[in-house]
Formats: sequence, C-alpha cells, structure tokens
Amino acid sequence: MARLVVRDVVITTLLLGLFAAIGTAVVAWVHAATEARIAENRLQMTRTRVTQVLEGLDYDNDPVTDYHRVSDDRLGGEDLPVWIARRGTEVVGVALSAIAPDGYSGDIHLLVGIDRTGTVRGVRITQHRETPGLGDDIEVERSDWIHDFRGRSLGDPPIERWRVRRDGGVFDQFTGATVTPRAVVRAVRNALLYFEANSEELLALPPPEEDEVLIIDPAVPEIPDHVTPTERLPEAEPPGELLQ
Ligand SMILES: Cc1cc2nc3c(=O)[nH]c(=O)nc-3n(C[C@H](O)[C@H](O)[C@H](O)COP(=O)(O)O)c2cc1C
Repeated sequence: MARLVVRDVVITTLLLGLFAAIGTAVVAWVHAATEARIAENRLQMTRTRVTQVLEGLDYDNDPVTDYHRVSDDRLGGEDLPVWIARRGTEVVGVALSAIAPDGYSGDIHLLVGIDRTGTVRGVRITQHRETPGLGDDIEVERSDWIHDFRGRSLGDPPIERWRVRRDGGVFDQFTGATVTPRAVVRAVRNALLYFEANSEELLALPPPEEDEVLIIDPAVPEIPDHVTPTERLPEAEPPGELLQ
C-alpha cells in the first residue's frame, strides 16, 4: 500500500515537471518567434511617422538610421531621439521627439518635423492616454487637427499666439476638451524654441559612420508607436533581420 502511494507521488511529480518544462519551452519559443517581428513592426511604424513629419522635404538618406539623442527640458525628456533628414551631407530637416507632460492623462509623446528654416513640416502623436472621444482628436487617424501645425513657425503665429483659441491663441481646442490640445500646442511651440536655440548644432550633426550598425532594441515599451533605436554599435553582433 505504502509503495503504491510513493509510486503515485513520483509519477505525479514527474508529470508536473514534464508539463512545466513543456510550458516553459512553448513560451520561450513564442517569445523568440515574435520578438524580431515586433521589433520590425516598430521600425516600420517609426519610419512611417518620421517620414510623415518630414513631408515635402527633399532628402536622400534614411532618417531612421541617422539619429542622435538629445536631452532638454523644452523637449520634455532626456535621451530623446532626433532623426535627421539629409541631402548629401547637408541636414535639411529634423524630426524631434518630444513629450508633453501636461496631457489630461499624463504624458503625450509626439514627433515634430522641422526644416532648416525652423518651419514645421508635420507633427504626429506617437503615444498618449487621453480620453477616447474627448482628447484623442490629436491623433491624425481621428481628425485633421494636427495638420494645423504644418507650415507654422515661431513667427507664424507670433509666439504669444501659440496657444489654443480659448487662451487667446490661433489653435482650435476640442469641444469639452481644452487640456489635451493645450498641452500639444505648448509642446510643439517648445520644440520650436529648442530648435531655434540649437539649430546650429542640429544642422551640423554628422551622418553615421560607415561601419556603424544600428540595432533596434525591442524592449522599449514606453513608446509603442515608434521605435527608439538604442545604440549604434561599431561591429555589433549581426542581429539578423533587424540590421539596417
Ligand atoms: C472623465 C473625463 C475625461 C476627460 N478627458 C479629457 C481629455 O482627455 N482631454 C481634455 O482636454 N479634457 C478632458 N476632460 C475635460 C477636462 O476636465 C476639462 O473640462 C476640459 O479640458 C476643459 O478644460 P479648461 O476648463 O481648461 O478649458 C475630461 C473630463 C472628464 C470628466
């Protein structure tokens, strides 16, 4: 009798161990199989967004592989990527990442495309948690509101009118939702102020070295809508399909 009980315990333990091992293996396999795909999708999204905010600029490089990192209060964060559009070696525009800290539900991440003259070429929201139906008209998929920044600069409108109408500015607010557009207008204005103060350095940023290899870090959850390239590594381990 006692021997039977011991045998049952051993068999049950072995079975449990087997199921645990199979489960772990399946999870590991799924993770490995999807990781590269997720990173690639993020890269695609980055490319789409960056291309959109640099609309109309004549460049011949791939800005997604030509980036630097900058930190400034006016951009709302540290180590934010700035993607460079170049014709030859000349910088013709930049796509600045910025964070508006004062959305209704926290940070709003955006990309601001600016040409050499300090004119906005496009703005896109890359991440937010604003209320659907109230604050989410900042998304290009939901309304045309974001297009109002196109062609604007610090002189157009004058700096004191870079506000929503309710605050005496030229930008529309949304019905029943002023907080969100106010935060975005302020963030775009601040990005322009940052550009104005740093244009000399930004327009002189060097292209990547020949042997620099861009790797995409799939583990950047904060900005799900666009990839934040992590580092350029000289002679990095070839990351397969993530290589640019
Ligand atoms: C549940 C709830 C969600 C809201 N979400 C937003 C939002 O996402 N964006 C926004 O601008 N206002 C939102 N509002 C409205 C704001 O509280 C505020 O009334 C509105 O933005 C007008 O702001 P103002 O008085 O500064 O002009 C929300 C209000 C409620 C009750």
